Amino acid sequence: MVDSGLQLIHTLSATPLGTEMDSRSFTPPLALVLSLLLLLLLPSSVNPNASPRRAYPRSPIRFAEDLIRDLNLQPVIQEIEGEQKGDDSSSPRLVEKRINLEILGESGSDIPIEQLGHHAGYYRLEHTHAAKMFYFFFESRGKSSDPVVIWLTGGPGCSSELALFYENGPFKIADNMSLIWNDYGWDKASNLIFVDQPTGTGFSYSTDLRDLRYSEKGVSDDLYDFLQAFFREHPKYLKNDFYITGESYAGHYIPAAAERVHRGNKEKQGLQLNLKGFAIGNGLTNPEIQYGAYADYALDMGIIGESAYKSISKIYPLCELGVKLCGPSGVIGCLASYFVCNSIFTSIMLLAGDMNYYDIRKKCEGSLCYDLSNMEKFLNEKSVRDALGVGNKKFVSCSPLVYEAMITDWMKNLEVGIPTLIGDGIRLLVYAGEYDLICNWLGNFRWVNSMEWSGHQIFAEAPMLPFVIDGKEAGLLKSYGPLSFLKVHDAGHMVPMDQPRAALEMLKRWMKGNLSEGGTITAVVDM
Ligand SMILES: *[C@@H]1O[C@H](CO)[C@@H](O)[C@H](O)[C@H]1NC(C)=O
Ligand SMILES: *[C@@H]1O[C@H](CO)[C@@H](O)[C@H](O)[C@H]1NC(C)=O
Repeated sequence: MVDSGLQLIHTLSATPLGTEMDSRSFTPPLALVLSLLLLLLLPSSVNPNASPRRAYPRSPIRFAEDLIRDLNLQPVIQEIEGEQKGDDSSSPRLVEKRINLEILGESGSDIPIEQLGHHAGYYRLEHTHAAKMFYFFFESRGKSSDPVVIWLTGGPGCSSELALFYENGPFKIADNMSLIWNDYGWDKASNLIFVDQPTGTGFSYSTDLRDLRYSEKGVSDDLYDFLQAFFREHPKYLKNDFYITGESYAGHYIPAAAERVHRGNKEKQGLQLNLKGFAIGNGLTNPEIQYGAYADYALDMGIIGESAYKSISKIYPLCELGVKLCGPSGVIGCLASYFVCNSIFTSIMLLAGDMNYYDIRKKCEGSLCYDLSNMEKFLNEKSVRDALGVGNKKFVSCSPLVYEAMITDWMKNLEVGIPTLIGDGIRLLVYAGEYDLICNWLGNFRWVNSMEWSGHQIFAEAPMLPFVIDGKEAGLLKSYGPLSFLKVHDAGHMVPMDQPRAALEMLKRWMKGNLSEGGTITAVVDM
């Protein structure tokens, strides 16, 4: 759920929770469970109607702040040196510059490199005190009429540059810090935006802590303001199809953003955005169902045995209760269920040892489970920072501050708004690499399959069919009308990193409206 979900593990293993877990006995520690139950049953003392924009400070947030202090984490929101404090120019503005990074290899495009627009920019967010949102915009290596695609990385609090450099961006970083064209970058088929959000993530920042966001409402309002500014600056793309995509915790952001854009369109706020669909890769969308799938997935994949399965499964009813108490607007229940439910995951990980929870075939190497250090090195080079116009702002892949601020958002169910969206013909693709534990395909499959919408029955009964690329089965696909689910073979959490070709092909076919196109359907596969 965490993209480069270092954050989840990092936080949990550093809190008392981690120490109370005994690796030799995986029964949930009774004292812990009882205290969390107590917490759950406490009447929520916090005003649930408080506007998320005014939600700071409130008790769980103070709790989160204490956590941050305990963990000795530094807030990453900091001023850009030399910039005026309290820049309160109320008129929103976009500062975008063309970047000319040297890229080795062949772009594979008919468009000469000099004409291929690569941009980086900051947008001063409307409706904030001093927030500036950072983004990259890569014009398509195909045609300018290609759809506009925005990518959101999860965390919460992890930079979308993780995907840019390691998954589906136009280029990758070599060990000697050179950039090399990515033959399967999503900019081959789209005009591609990577944005660092929520505020405080990656290069996006504010000098005012009141700009921190605590819920999907705040996050999606900011993203909507960002999109409005982007299309105002680039009106020629307004007529293009528009898709919202991303991964991991973006299983929360994406449906919320799609809803926000759709509502803006319906209510004729601002520019009409030509939203055609949204795609969630290995996401966290419906926690109640997805946390129920952990033990099943771990058992199926041989990560845990029968007896551990039985013990760990005993935690689930309390997790489920907590998620129910959390509901759409809870606070305390959300916090308690965050800890209870994640103890299911940590219990599995205690048995799994040094397994990479994003790809169970691999070992977790280093604190991030993958070595992503080249990116931080690259983005902190002075020449690169100058080229991007980010001043002296230090780049951090994942922000603990943003993560903690979003802690009561974690257990919220973002499935609830989806039936309306797909009912209005906006397409949804949920895809998942089969070897990811943390946002595994099974939990995603279950929520998609059980979602109530007008096509529910037909979707539920539809067969899983091979997703074929060049005569080879690259995954299993289930589709009906605007809804598709794809289980991707030989991939972990980061599908475009592990299966770049399949991921690009998936994007192209989905945007064209037919994921099975080009594939010969030869067999019906049992799930
Ligand atoms: C850096 O690495 C890339 C890819 O391995 C290679 O093509 C390039 O020549 C190297 N550049 C330098 C300056 O060594
Ligand atoms: C999608 O493509 C497949 C294979 O080419 C074809 O059989 C199917 O009818 C197409 N579906 C739609 C909805 O066009």
